[in-house]
Amino acid sequence: MLPSNFCLWVRCFIVCSAIAVRNLTTDQSALVQFKDGILDPQNALANRWKASTSVCKWVGVSCGSIHERVVALNLTSMDLTGNIPPHLGNLSFLRSLDLSRNHIYGHLPMELGQLHRLRVLRLSFNGLNGEVPSWLGNLHRVKMLKMYSNNFTGTIPQTLVNMSNLEILNLGANQLFGQIPSSMDGLPL
Ligand SMILES: *[C@@H]1O[C@H](CO)[C@@H](O)[C@H](O)[C@H]1NC(C)=O
Ligand SMILES: *[C@@H]1O[C@H](CO)[C@@H](O)[C@H](O)[C@H]1NC(C)=O
Ligand SMILES: *[C@@H]1O[C@H](CO)[C@@H](O)[C@H](O)[C@H]1NC(C)=O
Ligand SMILES: *[C@@H]1O[C@H](CO)[C@@H](O)[C@H](O)[C@H]1NC(C)=O
Ligand SMILES: *[C@@H]1O[C@H](CO)[C@@H](O)[C@H](O)[C@H]1NC(C)=O
Repeated sequence: MLPSNFCLWVRCFIVCSAIAVRNLTTDQSALVQFKDGILDPQNALANRWKASTSVCKWVGVSCGSIHERVVALNLTSMDLTGNIPPHLGNLSFLRSLDLSRNHIYGHLPMELGQLHRLRVLRLSFNGLNGEVPSWLGNLHRVKMLKMYSNNFTGTIPQTLVNMSNLEILNLGANQLFGQIPSSMDGLPL
C-alpha cells in the first residue's frame, strides 16, 4: 500500500499544477495581446512596453510587492482604439483597471468576470456597447464602477445587487432604460 502522504502529494501535484499556471509571464502575454490588438496612434505603448523591460516597469502598469503580479493597469487618455481582449481576464491579481477616455469599443469580454480581486473598474468615455454584463455581479469587491458615456444598451442587470461593496456607480450617458435594482437605492450615482 502506498503511504497516504504520497497520495496527497500526487493529488496536490495534479491539482496544484493546474491552479498555479498563472504568473507574471501570463500577465505579460495578456498585456501584449491587448497592445497588439489596438491602434495606438500616439505610440503611447508601442515604444514603452518592451519585452526587454520587466512588465512591472511598463507605463501604466503596477505590480504588487508581495506576489510579483500586475495589480493595476491605468491607461487613461492615451487615444487607444480597439477592443478589450479576453486575455485581460488572466490578470488574476488585478485590483484596479482604468481605461477611461480612450476609444475602446465592442463588448466587455466575460473573462473580466474572473477578476475577483478587482476594486476599481473605470471605463468611462469610451465606445463600449452591448448590454451591461450580468457577470459584473461576480465582482464582489468592486467599490467603484464607472462606465459613464459609452454606448451600453438595455437594462441594468439585477445581478449588480451582488456587488455588495459598491460605493460609487456611474452608468450615466449610455442608452440604458429601466430601473436601478431597488436594493441599490442610496448609492451615489
Ligand atoms: C511562468 O511559468 C512558466 C511555465 O509555467 C515558466 O516558463 C515561466 O518562466 C514562469 N515565469 C515567471 C516570471 O515565473
Ligand atoms: C489613472 O491615472 C489618471 C491620470 O494620472 C488619474 O487621474 C486616475 O485617478 C488614475 N486612475 C486610478 C484608478 O488610479
Ligand atoms: C489567458 O486567456 C486566454 C483567453 O481568455 C486563454 O486562451 C489563455 O490560455 C489564458 N492563459 C494563459 C496562461 O495565457
Ligand atoms: C454609439 O452608437 C451610435 C450608433 O450605433 C454611433 O453613431 C456612435 O458613434 C456610438 N458612440 C460611441 C461613443 O461609440
Ligand atoms: C446573488 O448571489 C447569490 C449567491 O451567489 C445568488 O444566489 C443570487 O441569485 C444572486 N442574485 C442575483 C440578483 O444575481
